[in-house]
Amino acid sequence: MKSTSSLLTLGLSARATWAQRQVPPEFKVGVKWQIEIQNTLDPIAPIQPTDAVVWDLDLYHIARTPAVVDHLRTSNSNTVLICYFNAGLAQKSDCDYASKWEHSGLLGNVYDVNNPEFRDERWVNIKNQTAVDWMKARITLARDLGCDAVDPDNIDGFLNDEDGRNGTGWHLTENDYVSFVTQLADHAHGLTTKRGYTLLIGQKNAPELVGRLGTTLDFAVLEDCKTLNDDDPFTFCSDFQAYITQGKPVLSIEYPSTLGNPQTGACNARGASDAQYTASCDDTKGNANFSTVLKIQGDVGELNGCTQYCGGGSGTGVVTTATDPDLDGATCPSNSK
Ligand SMILES: *[C@@H]1O[C@H](CO)[C@@H](O)[C@H](O)[C@H]1NC(C)=O
Ligand SMILES: *[C@@H]1O[C@H](CO)[C@@H](O)[C@H](O)[C@H]1NC(C)=O
Ligand SMILES: *[C@@H]1O[C@H](CO)[C@@H](O)[C@H](O)[C@H]1NC(C)=O
Repeated sequence: MKSTSSLLTLGLSARATWAQRQVPPEFKVGVKWQIEIQNTLDPIAPIQPTDAVVWDLDLYHIARTPAVVDHLRTSNSNTVLICYFNAGLAQKSDCDYASKWEHSGLLGNVYDVNNPEFRDERWVNIKNQTAVDWMKARITLARDLGCDAVDPDNIDGFLNDEDGRNGTGWHLTENDYVSFVTQLADHAHGLTTKRGYTLLIGQKNAPELVGRLGTTLDFAVLEDCKTLNDDDPFTFCSDFQAYITQGKPVLSIEYPSTLGNPQTGACNARGASDAQYTASCDDTKGNANFSTVLKIQGDVGELNGCTQYCGGGSGTGVVTTATDPDLDGATCPSNSK
């Protein structure tokens, strides 16, 4: 049984405000970042781009190839490593899938019945405490592997269950996700990273939840806030200015269709078309001070190493981060199951 004082300490650390959290000094608004969750980062090839401080990589790629972490830190000792995991769904490639989720009764409908690419991913019953605890275990694994932060994806399953629909199979609401993510945040904020900082946790999309999660979470990762959302008024990007004003980075991804080939993953060396570059990079949609990367969307190319950065003008800033897809399905070590 825990003593009262250690419980108190835990409670305080979990509820610490942003100002009280130990945050790496490089983790600032406008920081340059890269995200590579399609394939495993090449653990030997030189890191490109060298000046990206924040790296968002897949937790189970890192579990399978932990050498990636030292490789990044050797390239830049100030690297802030965010570890991505699928918090709202469980998928067959997750190292804990067979041992925990597969026969748990905690998996609902597939992500998208019409899209074969996503048939191996099923919505998790996030209302169940066992499911929450298993997701917390992923966060602990992230800390143990040397991650500085976590990026829990798919916290907007409620969109599938609106208006009486049952898309997830669990009738999940905004409140269910706020409760779920808050429990994950309390867990993360109670952990200290290998570098001695607070384990940080981000908000993935879900602008509806900024009002209730924006002071608790430490950064945001957005997809297509400029180009896909056609709400009127258009507030997906601007909702996340609430993070910027607190000094928290907003890491944003746009997916211009001319950047590369989704089927082959090939990168267009001059980047997106002039029009798509401008539409992705200008700050006309409430996205000022965001850290933006342009990526390929769909099929084998989605979120691979092909990236264009804003700032240098159309036709510039294309970088291909080296990956080693042969490592993606490597054996999972027992501590990740
Ligand atoms: C949560 O899921 C586990 C595993 O399927 C099950 O044993 C447990 O009864 C569930 N809890 C609730 C409250 O439904
Ligand atoms: C919601 O969907 C799940 C999975 O398809 C099903 O088991 C459940 O009965 C559905 N709930 C309702 C109220 O229809
Ligand atoms: C946002 O960017 C502007 C310049 O474009 C700068 O003056 C301002 O300080 C930035 N805000 C934050 C919170 O970094």
